[in-house]
Amino acid sequence: MPDSPDLDRLRLEYEDRARRFAASDTYSLFNPANLFTVQQRQRAVLKMLRRQGLYPLAEQFILELGCGRGGVLLEYLSYGAAPGRLYGTDLLPDRVSAAHQNLPQVALTVADGQQLPYADGQFDLVVQYTVFTSVLDDGVKANLARDMLRVLRKPAGLILWYDFWLNPTNPQTRGIRPAEVRRLFPNCRCDFQRITLAPPITRRLIKMSWLACYLLEKVRAFNSHYLAAIRPIV
Ligand SMILES: C[S@@+](CC[C@H](N)C(=O)[O-])C[C@H]1O[C@@H](n2cnc3c(N)ncnc32)[C@H](O)[C@@H]1O
Repeated sequence: MPDSPDLDRLRLEYEDRARRFAASDTYSLFNPANLFTVQQRQRAVLKMLRRQGLYPLAEQFILELGCGRGGVLLEYLSYGAAPGRLYGTDLLPDRVSAAHQNLPQVALTVADGQQLPYADGQFDLVVQYTVFTSVLDDGVKANLARDMLRVLRKPAGLILWYDFWLNPTNPQTRGIRPAEVRRLFPNCRCDFQRITLAPPITRRLIKMSWLACYLLEKVRAFNSHYLAAIRPIV
Protein backbone atom coordinates (compact mmCIF):
# COMPACT_ATOMS: atom_id res chain seq x y z
CA MET A 1 0.00 0.00 0.00
CA PRO A 2 1.60 3.36 -1.04
CA ASP A 3 2.28 5.91 1.70
CA SER A 4 -0.59 8.43 1.78
CA PRO A 5 0.22 12.19 1.80
CA ASP A 6 -1.93 12.31 4.94
CA LEU A 7 0.63 10.15 6.78
CA ASP A 8 3.37 12.67 5.90
CA ARG A 9 1.16 15.50 7.19
CA LEU A 10 0.58 13.52 10.37
CA ARG A 11 4.31 12.93 10.94
CA LEU A 12 4.97 16.69 10.64
CA GLU A 13 2.01 17.53 12.88
CA TYR A 14 3.27 15.24 15.66
CA GLU A 15 6.79 16.73 15.41
CA ASP A 16 5.19 20.16 15.79
CA ARG A 17 2.97 18.99 18.68
CA ALA A 18 6.03 17.60 20.50
CA ARG A 19 7.63 21.07 20.26
CA ARG A 20 4.44 22.93 21.25
CA PHE A 21 3.77 20.79 24.32
CA ALA A 22 7.39 20.21 25.39
CA ALA A 23 7.18 22.60 28.34
CA SER A 24 3.45 22.20 29.02
CA ASP A 25 1.71 20.15 31.73
CA THR A 26 -1.56 19.92 29.75
CA TYR A 27 -1.32 16.13 29.54
CA SER A 28 0.24 15.54 32.97
CA LEU A 29 -1.74 13.87 35.74
CA PHE A 30 -0.43 16.66 38.01
CA ASN A 31 -2.71 18.92 36.00
CA PRO A 32 -6.09 18.67 37.79
CA ALA A 33 -8.09 19.13 34.58
CA ASN A 34 -6.28 16.28 32.83
CA LEU A 35 -6.50 14.11 35.97
CA PHE A 36 -10.28 14.61 36.00
CA THR A 37 -10.56 13.76 32.28
CA VAL A 38 -8.42 10.63 32.52
CA GLN A 39 -10.09 9.29 35.67
CA GLN A 40 -13.59 9.86 34.32
CA ARG A 41 -12.64 8.11 31.08
CA GLN A 42 -11.16 5.20 33.02
CA ARG A 43 -14.38 4.80 35.02
CA ALA A 44 -16.43 4.69 31.81
CA VAL A 45 -14.02 2.27 30.08
CA LEU A 46 -13.94 -0.16 33.01
CA LYS A 47 -17.73 -0.14 33.23
CA MET A 48 -18.04 -0.71 29.48
CA LEU A 49 -15.49 -3.56 29.48
CA ARG A 50 -17.31 -5.29 32.32
CA ARG A 51 -20.68 -4.83 30.63
CA GLN A 52 -19.25 -6.29 27.42
CA GLY A 53 -17.95 -9.37 29.26
CA LEU A 54 -14.25 -8.54 28.97
CA TYR A 55 -13.57 -8.69 32.71
CA PRO A 56 -11.14 -10.01 33.85
CA LEU A 57 -8.58 -8.90 31.26
CA ALA A 58 -5.73 -11.26 32.21
CA GLU A 59 -6.65 -13.93 29.62
CA GLN A 60 -7.43 -11.51 26.79
CA PHE A 61 -5.12 -10.70 23.88
CA ILE A 62 -5.27 -6.91 23.56
CA LEU A 63 -3.98 -4.54 20.87
CA GLU A 64 -3.86 -0.76 20.98
CA LEU A 65 -3.76 0.82 17.51
CA GLY A 66 -1.90 4.16 17.68
CA CYS A 67 -0.40 3.58 21.11
CA GLY A 68 1.72 6.75 21.05
CA ARG A 69 3.96 6.92 24.12
CA GLY A 70 2.15 4.05 25.84
CA GLY A 71 -0.03 5.93 28.35
CA VAL A 72 -3.16 3.92 27.50
CA LEU A 73 -1.26 0.60 27.52
CA LEU A 74 -0.05 1.43 31.04
CA GLU A 75 -3.69 1.91 32.02
CA TYR A 76 -4.56 -1.54 30.65
CA LEU A 77 -1.73 -3.08 32.70
CA SER A 78 -3.22 -1.43 35.77
CA TYR A 79 -6.63 -2.91 34.81
CA GLY A 80 -5.09 -6.40 35.00
CA ALA A 81 -4.04 -7.08 31.39
CA ALA A 82 -1.17 -9.58 31.12
CA PRO A 83 2.00 -7.92 29.77
CA GLY A 84 2.65 -10.96 27.53
CA ARG A 85 -0.79 -10.58 25.89
CA LEU A 86 -0.67 -6.82 25.44
CA TYR A 87 0.39 -5.29 22.10
CA GLY A 88 0.79 -1.76 20.80
CA THR A 89 1.53 -0.30 17.43
CA ASP A 90 2.14 3.23 16.18
CA LEU A 91 3.26 4.92 12.99
CA LEU A 92 5.90 7.07 14.67
CA PRO A 93 9.19 5.43 15.77
CA ASP A 94 10.06 8.07 18.41
CA ARG A 95 6.69 7.54 20.12
CA VAL A 96 7.12 3.75 20.10
CA SER A 97 10.62 3.99 21.58
CA ALA A 98 9.28 6.30 24.33
CA ALA A 99 6.54 3.71 25.02
CA HIS A 100 9.16 0.96 25.13
CA GLN A 101 11.01 2.77 27.96
CA ASN A 102 7.87 2.51 30.14
CA LEU A 103 6.67 -0.87 28.92
CA PRO A 104 9.73 -3.04 28.24
CA GLN A 105 7.69 -6.25 28.62
CA VAL A 106 4.96 -5.27 26.13
CA ALA A 107 5.25 -6.13 22.39
CA LEU A 108 5.40 -2.79 20.59
CA THR A 109 5.83 -2.27 16.87
CA VAL A 110 6.28 0.63 14.51
CA ALA A 111 3.70 0.07 11.77
CA ASP A 112 1.04 1.76 9.71
CA GLY A 113 -2.26 0.59 11.16
CA GLN A 114 -3.57 0.17 7.60
CA GLN A 115 -1.46 -3.00 7.48
CA LEU A 116 -1.19 -4.31 11.01
CA PRO A 117 1.63 -6.86 11.42
CA TYR A 118 -0.64 -9.40 13.14
CA ALA A 119 -2.56 -12.51 12.14
CA ASP A 120 -6.27 -12.58 11.33
CA GLY A 121 -8.38 -13.03 14.46
CA GLN A 122 -5.42 -12.66 16.87
CA PHE A 123 -7.03 -10.27 19.38
CA ASP A 124 -9.97 -10.42 21.79
CA LEU A 125 -9.89 -6.65 22.24
CA VAL A 126 -8.62 -3.96 19.84
CA VAL A 127 -8.70 -0.42 21.20
CA GLN A 128 -8.21 2.97 19.61
CA TYR A 129 -8.05 6.20 21.58
CA THR A 130 -8.03 9.45 19.53
CA VAL A 131 -6.30 7.97 16.48
CA PHE A 132 -9.08 8.28 13.91
CA THR A 133 -9.68 11.99 14.57
CA SER A 134 -6.00 12.71 13.83
CA VAL A 135 -6.41 11.16 10.35
CA LEU A 136 -7.99 13.44 7.73
CA ASP A 137 -8.01 11.08 4.73
CA ASP A 138 -11.22 9.05 4.46
CA GLY A 139 -9.44 6.23 2.62
CA VAL A 140 -6.84 5.87 5.39
CA LYS A 141 -9.61 5.79 8.03
CA ALA A 142 -11.45 3.06 6.10
CA ASN A 143 -8.25 0.99 5.81
CA LEU A 144 -7.51 1.38 9.54
CA ALA A 145 -11.02 0.20 10.44
CA ARG A 146 -10.83 -2.74 8.01
CA ASP A 147 -7.54 -3.96 9.49
CA MET A 148 -8.78 -3.57 13.07
CA LEU A 149 -11.66 -5.88 12.11
CA ARG A 150 -9.31 -8.31 10.35
CA VAL A 151 -7.15 -8.89 13.47
CA LEU A 152 -10.19 -9.19 15.76
CA ARG A 153 -11.25 -12.64 16.94
CA LYS A 154 -14.73 -13.54 15.58
CA PRO A 155 -17.37 -13.70 16.81
CA ALA A 156 -16.47 -12.76 20.40
CA GLY A 157 -13.93 -9.96 19.85
CA LEU A 158 -14.58 -6.33 20.76
CA ILE A 159 -13.32 -3.04 19.35
CA LEU A 160 -13.25 -0.24 21.92
CA TRP A 161 -13.44 3.26 20.43
CA TYR A 162 -12.68 6.47 22.32
CA ASP A 163 -12.59 9.63 20.26
CA PHE A 164 -14.07 13.09 20.05
CA TRP A 165 -16.91 14.26 17.85
CA LEU A 166 -16.03 17.96 17.93
CA ASN A 167 -12.84 19.96 18.25
CA PRO A 168 -13.37 23.28 16.49
CA THR A 169 -10.00 24.70 17.54
CA ASN A 170 -7.64 22.22 15.86
CA PRO A 171 -7.74 22.05 12.03
CA GLN A 172 -5.27 19.12 12.11
CA THR A 173 -8.04 16.92 13.49
CA ARG A 174 -11.61 16.15 12.48
CA GLY A 175 -14.34 15.06 14.89
CA ILE A 176 -16.15 11.81 14.18
CA ARG A 177 -19.82 11.21 14.95
CA PRO A 178 -21.62 7.87 15.39
CA ALA A 179 -22.91 7.81 11.78
CA GLU A 180 -19.31 7.85 10.49
CA VAL A 181 -18.25 5.17 12.98
CA ARG A 182 -21.11 2.99 11.72
CA ARG A 183 -19.95 3.53 8.13
CA LEU A 184 -16.37 2.64 9.07
CA PHE A 185 -17.48 -0.59 10.75
CA PRO A 186 -20.25 -2.04 8.55
CA ASN A 187 -21.91 -5.24 9.74
CA CYS A 188 -21.12 -4.36 13.34
CA ARG A 189 -23.25 -3.55 16.34
CA CYS A 190 -22.13 -0.25 17.91
CA ASP A 191 -23.02 0.77 21.46
CA PHE A 192 -22.25 4.49 21.96
CA GLN A 193 -21.90 6.47 25.12
CA ARG A 194 -21.18 10.19 25.27
CA ILE A 195 -18.42 10.89 27.81
CA THR A 196 -15.69 13.44 28.73
CA LEU A 197 -16.64 16.96 29.68
CA ALA A 198 -15.16 19.15 26.92
CA PRO A 199 -11.57 19.83 28.06
CA PRO A 200 -11.74 23.65 27.62
CA ILE A 201 -14.68 23.67 30.08
CA THR A 202 -12.92 21.33 32.50
CA ARG A 203 -9.76 23.48 32.46
CA ARG A 204 -11.78 26.54 33.54
CA LEU A 205 -14.16 24.90 35.97
CA ILE A 206 -11.93 22.44 37.82
CA LYS A 207 -10.15 25.29 39.62
CA MET A 208 -13.47 26.20 41.22
CA SER A 209 -15.12 22.84 41.73
CA TRP A 210 -14.46 19.17 40.94
CA LEU A 211 -18.10 18.44 41.80
CA ALA A 212 -19.35 20.99 39.26
CA CYS A 213 -17.27 19.25 36.55
CA TYR A 214 -18.62 15.87 37.64
CA LEU A 215 -22.25 17.01 37.55
CA LEU A 216 -21.88 18.87 34.26
CA GLU A 217 -20.36 15.79 32.65
CA LYS A 218 -23.42 13.79 33.76
CA VAL A 219 -25.66 16.24 31.86
CA ARG A 220 -23.90 14.96 28.66
CA ALA A 221 -24.71 18.13 26.63
CA PHE A 222 -21.13 19.42 26.99
CA ASN A 223 -19.39 16.10 26.46
CA SER A 224 -16.87 16.00 23.65
CA HIS A 225 -16.11 12.29 23.13
CA TYR A 226 -17.80 9.01 22.35
CA LEU A 227 -16.90 5.73 23.91
CA ALA A 228 -18.14 2.90 21.73
CA ALA A 229 -18.22 -0.87 21.95
CA ILE A 230 -18.11 -2.28 18.42
CA ARG A 231 -18.81 -5.94 17.68
CA PRO A 232 -19.02 -7.72 14.35
CA ILE A 233 -22.42 -9.27 13.63
CA VAL A 234 -21.55 -12.76 12.46
C1 LIG B 1 -3.64 11.57 19.58
S1 LIG B 1 -2.45 10.30 19.55
C2 LIG B 1 -3.13 9.17 20.73
C3 LIG B 1 -2.11 8.26 21.35
C4 LIG B 1 -2.69 7.26 22.36
N1 LIG B 1 -3.72 6.45 21.76
C5 LIG B 1 -3.25 8.00 23.57
O1 LIG B 1 -4.46 8.17 23.66
O2 LIG B 1 -2.43 8.42 24.38
C6 LIG B 1 -2.77 9.47 18.02
C7 LIG B 1 -1.72 8.45 17.66
O3 LIG B 1 -2.15 7.74 16.50
C8 LIG B 1 -1.01 7.43 15.73
N2 LIG B 1 -1.41 7.14 14.35
C9 LIG B 1 -2.04 7.97 13.49
N3 LIG B 1 -2.20 7.37 12.29
C10 LIG B 1 -1.69 6.12 12.41
C11 LIG B 1 -1.55 5.02 11.51
N4 LIG B 1 -1.95 5.09 10.24
N5 LIG B 1 -0.97 3.89 11.98
C12 LIG B 1 -0.53 3.80 13.25
N6 LIG B 1 -0.61 4.83 14.13
C13 LIG B 1 -1.18 5.98 13.73
C14 LIG B 1 -0.17 8.70 15.86
O4 LIG B 1 1.18 8.46 15.50
C15 LIG B 1 -0.36 9.05 17.33
O5 LIG B 1 0.63 8.47 18.14
